[in-house]
Amino acid sequence: MKKILLLCVLFGSSLWQTVLAKASFNEPDSAYLFAYATDKNAGHNGLHFAWSLDGKDWHAIGPEYGFVKCDYGRWGAEKRMLTPYLFHAQDGMWHCVWSLNERDGAFAHAASEDLVYWKSQSYPVVMENKNCLMPELSYDKTKKQYLISWQSKDGESFRSYYVTTKDFKTYTSAEKLQEGTLPADLRQNIIVSGKTERGTVNKVSWTVIDGLYNAKNLAEYNRALYTENAKTDPERFASLKPVDAVFTPTVSGSKKISDLLIGIFFEDINYAADGGLYAELVQNRDFEYALSDKEGNDKSWNSYHSWKLNGDQAIFNIDTITPIHPHNKHYAVLQINQKGAGLLNEGFDGIAIKAGEKYNFSIFARMLSGKAGNIIVRLIDENGKVCGETSTKNISQEWKKYEAVLLAKETVSNAKLEILPQITGSVALDMISLFPQKTFKGRKNGLREDLAQTLADMKPRFVRFPGGCVAHGDGLGNIYRWKNTVGPLEIRVPQRNLWGYHQTAGLGYFEYFQFCEDIGAEPVPVVAAGVPCQNSGTGGGGQQGGIPMCEMDDYVQEVLDLIEYANGDVKTKWGKMRAEAGHPKPFNLKYVGVGNEDLITDIFEERFAMIFRAVKEKYPEITVIGTVGPFSEGTDYVEGWRVATELGVPMVDEHYYQPVGWFIYNQDYYDRYDRSKSKVYLGEYAAHLPGRPNNLESSLAEALYLTALERNGDVVSMTSYAPLLAKEKRTQWNPDLIYFNNTEVKPTVGYFVQKLYGENSGDSYLPCDVKLSNQQDKVKKRIAVSFVRDSKNNDLIIKMVNLLPVDVNSKINLKDFSIADPKAVKTVLTGTPEDKNARPEVSSCTVSEEFISELPAYSFTVIRVKLK
Ligand code: AHR
Repeated sequence: MKKILLLCVLFGSSLWQTVLAKASFNEPDSAYLFAYATDKNAGHNGLHFAWSLDGKDWHAIGPEYGFVKCDYGRWGAEKRMLTPYLFHAQDGMWHCVWSLNERDGAFAHAASEDLVYWKSQSYPVVMENKNCLMPELSYDKTKKQYLISWQSKDGESFRSYYVTTKDFKTYTSAEKLQEGTLPADLRQNIIVSGKTERGTVNKVSWTVIDGLYNAKNLAEYNRALYTENAKTDPERFASLKPVDAVFTPTVSGSKKISDLLIGIFFEDINYAADGGLYAELVQNRDFEYALSDKEGNDKSWNSYHSWKLNGDQAIFNIDTITPIHPHNKHYAVLQINQKGAGLLNEGFDGIAIKAGEKYNFSIFARMLSGKAGNIIVRLIDENGKVCGETSTKNISQEWKKYEAVLLAKETVSNAKLEILPQITGSVALDMISLFPQKTFKGRKNGLREDLAQTLADMKPRFVRFPGGCVAHGDGLGNIYRWKNTVGPLEIRVPQRNLWGYHQTAGLGYFEYFQFCEDIGAEPVPVVAAGVPCQNSGTGGGGQQGGIPMCEMDDYVQEVLDLIEYANGDVKTKWGKMRAEAGHPKPFNLKYVGVGNEDLITDIFEERFAMIFRAVKEKYPEITVIGTVGPFSEGTDYVEGWRVATELGVPMVDEHYYQPVGWFIYNQDYYDRYDRSKSKVYLGEYAAHLPGRPNNLESSLAEALYLTALERNGDVVSMTSYAPLLAKEKRTQWNPDLIYFNNTEVKPTVGYFVQKLYGENSGDSYLPCDVKLSNQQDKVKKRIAVSFVRDSKNNDLIIKMVNLLPVDVNSKINLKDFSIADPKAVKTVLTGTPEDKNARPEVSSCTVSEEFISELPAYSFTVIRVKLK
């Protein structure tokens, strides 16, 4: 209620009127409450409620609004709440059990005190290899235990089973209910809004129903605010005149803020790594593509993918009998009957080469039979013209790596690579690789120069990697294990990327650490918290199969080993391995993320605590970053914060992708955070508009919100937009910050907002008095300023965002400051809201104790002032 009152004060009286309307003097003391799921077969809608005074005439409480939704398994097919059964326990707690699907022998349970906030769901597996349908719940007062019974379908017949529990954490083994006795189905058929629904009826006090209405009204009210966007600005601001503003920052009351606020989050999504930032030009170099990498039915996604036989005088097979290394099982076998035949690789949508540049070629080869020779390697254009050629030494009888350098004679955007073994007989080939010599900072096995430079230009203070969902993986077998990604390329363990393609692991932990060092950013690796992605489609229902406890000690050790790999002395086992990779000096790792958007269950909590405590004990200097779910509110958020607070986790990773309106109306999100609890890393966020463009409007919403993040830089330590990179034609998620193809890098408007913040970060925040000529909430919320000081350069940095369709005439009062130079640098990003090509324009401006700066409609302005 307090929150509603606060919202009423903030947003005006309409909500207040709704709330008042509910608090009528004629309210009944109690009513019947019907709980049901609307789409019986699909079950994706969650738990609904309707109430009745007489048990006959029923009123739905928000037909579209599911109060709790099932979180089990994958989006789409799973996450089903079938046949929910709501039970009111003696201690006042509500318990809901439901069936998940027709397969898995698990039911779902969740509990709530008020039917609005629901605690973590659990999915106890009670019947291996059988299903668990129509669960019901009752309480045995004598034995002081709950009994959950259900029906299991076996062929055409149903059998009834039950388990008991005292705490909904541990359960007895499933037992058959007496032969022939199906539990009485206590559900009822009720007609709600003209449709017959099936569910449970309870008698409740009216305050329960009132609470449900309040929750529903608040959600609807917020939804209306959050869907506001510039498309409807012409009506919203039809009569709006330019706004006058006076901004008066003060030195007193300034506070220290994090100097790591702006960073980047790199994840291999949208072909961001292989085919993207990782400069390898050969696709499927390891012949390890597998049908299982992909969802769906892409039969061509196998070891032959991207490879073709060149000429008809050869046979091309894949073999696994004597691989270079067991981690890398598949290799090509070419039976060449006549010289000139060979293999052709098409690269990642072609191979882009530049005239005059050199390319490092390497291959593992082994003569299996016949007459040995060397390998001619060529780059050819689409007409077969040779654009570069080199050759290796003669191939030996054992697996051996051969290297050669190719000089490109032409600039071609979609060349192909020809491998022409000059032999007759049979030859095995693997790890066929082509890298530009010009990688970022000239690193071997390095990064694409233009893309890496675009990232470096943002001046990110940290890099989070390797995910996201890639870090915790799709099912236990898909967790990103750092040890699989270091060492010689041929012994790394490639694997399925949960975004539906292949990860070579060529861009592995060493390369990530090195990139961080190269751009002066803190590395922030994220390891799985012993559980895979909560939307996992493999390994049973969602993440509920955490790493078995008997394997957790080894997993914890793996996390500790990672820290040793990054920071350990060269005499340590893992420090030595880092040195062997070419980096004897430590990488100076300070942060480790544990978990990503996990479902906060007992399974998570137990494993997270083990990892957290072990790291804290062995490496107290490392800041562990916990996780509080995928949203800005809700069960995982609340429970994640509870876990973090109980364990004393120094920082938590928050994620939220929200509509533009959410960012406009939640600028106070962190103002009310408890400063004594964990610090925040806002690890993933982006403003989403319908159709998901990255345009001026979404970018200004982010710029606006970033002023609030700077203001809260004492509690928000780090932030990173997500996702970062997306290859054109291979994009799985929009919007992203930087789009690219093989030859071009296409930063978005949002990129320039991030860059402006990265280039203009400060280490102290100055409070500012804001006076506006228009006091309407919708106006005030669209003007935001932030004044920070960069103590290294003694600069005052002014950031001003105007998300209104009219100019803001701003007067900036700097009386509290000693200006060293009246010439200041001013950068303005402006255009129309839908503009995807708006770019910052830099000019110089004159500043004084009091100066005017027009903020154009829909604009972001940064002024950098030199202080004495
Ligand atoms: O950024 C894309 C995905 O969004 C991340 O992998 C995941 O953490 C989040 O759900």
